[in-house]
Formats: sequence, C-alpha cells, structure tokens
Amino acid sequence: MQKLPIRIKEHLREIPFFVGRDLWAALAAYLQTDFPAHSLFVIADSTVAALYGEAAAGALRPHGGFRDILTFPAGEQYKSRARKEQLEDLLLLGKAGRDSVIVALGGGVTGDLAGYLAATLHRGVPLVHLPTSLMAQVDSSIGGKVGVNHPAGKNLIGAFYQPRAVFCDTAFLKTLPEEEFFNGMAEVIKYAVILDDELWRRLDSESAPILRREPGLLEQIVLRCASLKIKVVEADEKESGYRSILNFGHTAGHAIEHLSEYRIKHGFAVAEGMRIAARLSHQLLGYPRERVEDLDKLLELYGLKGVGREQFSAEEIWNCICSDKKARRQAPRFTLLRSPHHPELFYPVEKQELSHALAAS
Ligand code: NAD
Ligand code: GLY
Repeated sequence: MQKLPIRIKEHLREIPFFVGRDLWAALAAYLQTDFPAHSLFVIADSTVAALYGEAAAGALRPHGGFRDILTFPAGEQYKSRARKEQLEDLLLLGKAGRDSVIVALGGGVTGDLAGYLAATLHRGVPLVHLPTSLMAQVDSSIGGKVGVNHPAGKNLIGAFYQPRAVFCDTAFLKTLPEEEFFNGMAEVIKYAVILDDELWRRLDSESAPILRREPGLLEQIVLRCASLKIKVVEADEKESGYRSILNFGHTAGHAIEHLSEYRIKHGFAVAEGMRIAARLSHQLLGYPRERVEDLDKLLELYGLKGVGREQFSAEEIWNCICSDKKARRQAPRFTLLRSPHHPELFYPVEKQELSHALAAS
C-alpha cells in the first residue's frame, strides 16, 4: 500500500490517500486508531452493497461502533436532494451523532451524495471515502467537491468538504463493468491532455494491457492520476482559478449529460466535451490540429466515441451551458488549451464559436 498525502492550506491535518489492493484491514486499523469511540455508518448504492457489503461489514464489525450499511438505488438520478433526505432520516433514526463516521463505499455518485450528507449532518461529521469505480479512484474521491444534482442542472447544490482519508483499493476494479471502466478512462485521458504527455504516451502504447486491466498497471495509472489531481487541489482547493483546469471538457460535457437526463454517463459526456473543447482551442487559440486528431484517436481506443451527442442541437447545448454555474452573467466560460499544458481558464465563448466547434466534432 502506498500513501499520497494531501496537504491543503488552512487544513490542520493532511488527508492520507492510500492506494493498494485489499485494503479492508488497513481501513479497519485506521478507524480503530483515529475514531475508536465513533459509530460507523457505511453508505453504498445497491450494486456495490451487493458486491461488497458483506466484506465491509466483516471488516468493520470488530470495531464495535459499526452500525449499518445504508443503501440507495444505483444511478446518477439518485444523486438528489430527495435521496439525501431519505438517507439523513435513516441516519438520525439510527442515532447517528457528531461522533459518527460516514464511510462512502462506491463510485462518484455515492461519494458526492454521502459526502454532501456528511458535510451537513450535525454541521459536519467525519467522512472516509472508499472509491470503487475508476472514476471515483482517479477523480471524485479527491478534492472535496460533494453535492447533488437539481432538475435545473448538474451538481448545482453542494459544498467543498474534505474527507479524513481515502482508501483507494484497486481490487474493486475487477468487478467494474466494461462501460464503467471506459467511463473512468475519460478522466484518465483528461489528465493526460491537460497535464501529462508521458501519461498520454503510455495510454497510447500500453492500451492492450490497460484494456485487459492488468492490476499492476492500473494501480500505476490510478497513482499517477491521483497525484496529478492532488497537486492541483493543493494549489487551489476552492477553484478560485487553477483548479478549473480540471474542468477541461466539462462545460459542454455537463450540458450533454444533463440534456440526456443522465443516460449518457459522466465520462462519456466529458469525452465528447473534450472533443468540443479541443476544437474550440484550435479555432480560438491555435491549439495544434494534430493534438485534436490524436485526442480523437485516444478516445476511440478507449471506447469513448459516438456517445450520441448528435441528438441535441447546438441551440439546446448552448442554452444548457448558459445555465451552468460556471457561466458568468450568462456568458459561458470554457477551460481551453492554447498549447499542450498552457490552459486558458474561464475563456468566454460565443454561440457562433460553439456551433462551429460542434459542427467540426
Ligand atoms: P457511479 O457512482 O454511478 O458508479 C457507476 C456504476 O458503477 C454504478 O452502477 C455503480 O453501482 C457501479 N460500480 C461502482 N463500483 C463498482 C465496482 N467496483 N464493481 C461493479 N460495479 C461498480 O458513477 P461514477 O462513474 O463512479 O461517478 C460519476 C459521478 O461522479 C457523477 O455524478 C459525477 O458528477 C461525479 N464526479 C464527481 C467529481 C468530484 O470531484 N466530486 C469528479 C468526477 C465525477
Ligand atoms: N472534477 C473536477 C474537480 O474536482 O475539480
């Protein structure tokens, strides 16, 4: 097991991000040491609870404070205020107090939902992430963004709330359906595009073993992506500037995800969003044409082509982007790239320019 420390200014403690395989014993030992007298509640979606609920209960029962595994149906549509309330009712019924730890066992939906719940229950109770999807391991369990969707848009209600620790067990990835693996690969590719040429080369040259999910290789990729995101979050926790580099592909991506009523998964929508952002970068900032083409090829290699964006008109995508929380006075802002590793953050984009990029993608 390796530990990446997350050190955020203004936070007293560092947040350990543990990466390895079969981390149940390490999790149990950590909770016993840091929270010996707390009660423990695990939150998991129905799919993850069916796969790993027993293992979680087995590992946590000896602690003595283990209370329950609370579940909700799997799916983005359950990252909602209604589902948060329901889980809150169950927790309060189960006498969860300020001395309770919430363990979020699952993908990004569980982490965002349970994280937001932990942020607000009794004005904040300790949160530990156990990310089980590739998306959650390389992205959503790091950086403290928690929240729920609203009918008006994605992630419109939420907070920054840092976990006390993250246990990133890559053994979970064995049971991840292929589509969910591809979904997570979109964020891996994002890191390569915005920050790491060497990672890009590896994704290209080692695609066969990556697609076979060779455990050692996956662990290296998760470690690499996690350390890239940690550096960005340490520099700008609350996204006042630099952190928005991580939003490359997300402005149009969120709109596509929302318009599809979440039938198009987050990673697939972000993949399409990256194709659009790369074209805007080329049109408006001279980002090299070959990089745009290479990105298309890389996305295709990892099953991230043809996500069904054509069902939405440029007008619909534009209108949806304009209601995004990152729009300033209704002028959409994009994270674009001037050249590899030279981002333009909060770059204003006109309707015509977006239409042009959509037509070219
Ligand atoms: P998800 O949590 O819905 O998981 C995807 C599916 O995979 C679910 O059906 C889940 O049950 C299943 N699953 C998870 N782990 C599994 C495993 N090990 N084996 C078998 N099945 C497993 O979605 P996701 O793709 O993990 O995350 C997407 C969400 O994360 C979106 O809501 C997105 O907005 C959010 N997100 C948040 C951040 C952040 O910084 N907070 C960053 C990126 C994404
Ligand atoms: N996924 C973008 C961020 O965490 O900032």
